[in-house]
Amino acid sequence: MLGLGYVGLPLAAEATRCGLTVTGYDPDRAVVRDLNAGRSHLPHVSSADVAAMLRGRFQATADEAATGSPAAIVMCVPTPLTADHRPDLAAVRSAAEMSARRLKPGALVVLESTTYPGTTDEVVRPLLEQKSGLSAGTDFSLAYSPERLDPGNADFGIRNTPKVVGGVTPSCTAAAAMFYGKICDQVVQAASAREAEMAKLLENTYRHVNIALVNEMAIFCHELGVDLWDAIRCAATKPFGFEAFYPGPGVGGHCIPIDPNYLSYKVRGLGYPFRFVELAQEVNGRMPGYVVARAAELLNRNRKPLSGSRVLLLGVTYKRDSADLRESPAASVARQLRRAGAQVAYCDPYVTEWFVDGQLVEAGGALAGAAMAADLVILLQAHSAYDIDDIGRRARLLLDTRGVATAGERL
Ligand SMILES: NC(=O)c1ccc[n+]([C@@H]2O[C@H](COP(=O)([O-])OP(=O)(O)OC[C@H]3O[C@@H](n4cnc5c(N)ncnc54)[C@H](O)[C@@H]3O)[C@@H](O)[C@H]2O)c1
Repeated sequence: MLGLGYVGLPLAAEATRCGLTVTGYDPDRAVVRDLNAGRSHLPHVSSADVAAMLRGRFQATADEAATGSPAAIVMCVPTPLTADHRPDLAAVRSAAEMSARRLKPGALVVLESTTYPGTTDEVVRPLLEQKSGLSAGTDFSLAYSPERLDPGNADFGIRNTPKVVGGVTPSCTAAAAMFYGKICDQVVQAASAREAEMAKLLENTYRHVNIALVNEMAIFCHELGVDLWDAIRCAATKPFGFEAFYPGPGVGGHCIPIDPNYLSYKVRGLGYPFRFVELAQEVNGRMPGYVVARAAELLNRNRKPLSGSRVLLLGVTYKRDSADLRESPAASVARQLRRAGAQVAYCDPYVTEWFVDGQLVEAGGALAGAAMAADLVILLQAHSAYDIDDIGRRARLLLDTRGVATAGERL
């Protein structure tokens, strides 16, 4: 397993549970040291899970030589964006080069990192073949398999979520299907690696675009005096052809704000834009600013300027009941509130310290008191630990960006 982060570690845990011998390689020595000492560095994998892995046949290493020549190599390395929003495949290239050095005939290599269609065949395959002297499809197998992780989802984990695999040749697909068949209940074979790569981007783009649709609707529904959440509740009773998506303060996490850029980058190479993705990015990217504009409007109606007002942000992680702050739109809300001169504080049971632009955001302390002390409470994330009705009773003004409170004003 190359990369022991959000994707690699749970997969290593599941593979170990299935009785496989797993060596997890990660260049981050602190991660490796913690794991080998039985400590998890991730919120959704417990230290007890890591201890169970160590009791099985798992070890972590930052030493390439200790990885030997495995029967299967799975790459779960980061695919971020460069400063100018282009795909950054540096970690994929470096993991592919390392795989080439460890590659033995008959082995399987799988890329799980989210990326644009063609990466496995056009970027990973040549690196493996040139540096190992072996050929994909004859000497070794090469496939792509997207990760469908949903941290914190109690119903679906790696085992019972269908696993898509697509090889660079049909025999590579079959080899990958056989491997994942040991770990997952259901394996879905794609026509090739490209379709498997596209499936992941389709899933994320679908969410991105539908969230943008309801976000745009939320803005004009407010002007029209329509409660969009109630309209969604009614529409969702249709037993076919509709899936509910909900407005909010913007999109966050590692996938939705980043992955569609990989697809639009690939499409731009054809000489035209992927308009849906670019529009969704624009609409979702404007939501934090819209939240701040609504906050100012609400305070203004109550004869208070935003500048100098004490604003409490409730729930700052990008996802409900998660500690994950990556790309959270709450950071943009806090930044814009600060710029407008507001005194910003936050409460979040999952976040003990929160920095925005390197500057610590004041922790509001106990929620009940913090809600009463603020001129305005903005509910950004409706963690299930919150008693929303109680917050609604205590807050002088409440802006509810999640449509869950009975008091206050909805986005
Ligand atoms: N986090 C999610 O929910 C999620 C879901 C689906 C897909 N993905 C995709 O999976 C991939 C990995 O994401 P993640 O969230 O696990 O990232 P992460 O940052 O949590 O973990 C990546 C790990 O890879 C290590 N690494 C970096 N370069 C390496 C190299 N050359 N060789 C080996 N290890 C290396 C890093 O030290 C880090 O520990 C990305 O492409 C991401 O888009 C993530």
